[in-house]
Amino acid sequence: MRFNPLTGHTGAEVDRIDLAKLAPDGDQAHALRDGLDRFGVLVFRAQDVDLAAQKRLTEVFGPILRVPYITPSPEDPDVIAVLKEADEVRVSIFGGDWHSDFSFLEKPPGGSVLVARDLPPYGGDTLWANQIAAWETLPDDLRGKVEGRAAIHVGAPYGVAHAPPPDLRVSRSVKMTRGDPAADREIPHPIAREQISTGRKALFVNPIYTTRIEGHSHGESADILDRLYRHATRPEFICRLRWSPGTVAIWDNRTTLHYAINDYDGHRRLLHRTTFAGERPV
Ligand code: SIN
Repeated sequence: MRFNPLTGHTGAEVDRIDLAKLAPDGDQAHALRDGLDRFGVLVFRAQDVDLAAQKRLTEVFGPILRVPYITPSPEDPDVIAVLKEADEVRVSIFGGDWHSDFSFLEKPPGGSVLVARDLPPYGGDTLWANQIAAWETLPDDLRGKVEGRAAIHVGAPYGVAHAPPPDLRVSRSVKMTRGDPAADREIPHPIAREQISTGRKALFVNPIYTTRIEGHSHGESADILDRLYRHATRPEFICRLRWSPGTVAIWDNRTTLHYAINDYDGHRRLLHRTTFAGERPV
């Protein structure tokens, strides 16, 4: 097995491995866990991974999490079908802005495994941005404003940018339960979150779910959050994945942000996502 970095900070393509044959506690599984800590995103090409193998792969990184508020795939309650149909044009999609999945949970997901099933002929790429690099290069004045502080996360948008008003058309293909008071309450998480295995810190805010800095109003927080988001998504922290048949991606939801690009109207895109549990950010 070989890790080939995709960019200076984010992602590695892993080759010489057959994910369908991965032993859950062998040397390769250990190396993949270390690789995910190091690169934030792992990409595998031309794999033959059915849903059972996808779930076994997910469990290498942690117990499978049935993500709340999303209707799972009818094929399997542990799987989310990330789908936009060809006839869904000019709609807002699930994950279509920079975010860390469900950061509003007390214990946000540790990460996810995404497997390409049906791809558009062009577009539908996914971006990830490394938030350890973002924290470690934060300008001193900005760091001084947020170090040791918490940010508030709220579930109301449920993965679609900026809590869409009822008249905004949202893809019908990923169904979300909205208006649950348990998701819509405010949850504070540290703005700099520790990576448990290394003690390094990652910036942990995102424009879908973070609403304000604890102890400040929304208005007072807006400028600082905007500066944090602009820094967090600088091009040098980003890798861009062009999906192809058999591509599998695994990401660390604690130390990366991601963004699903919605530029393939008129074509179907289906990926299967499984998610592994995480811990309360410290
Ligand atoms: C997600 O945010 O889980 C979806 C990513 C994608 O569709 O590329």
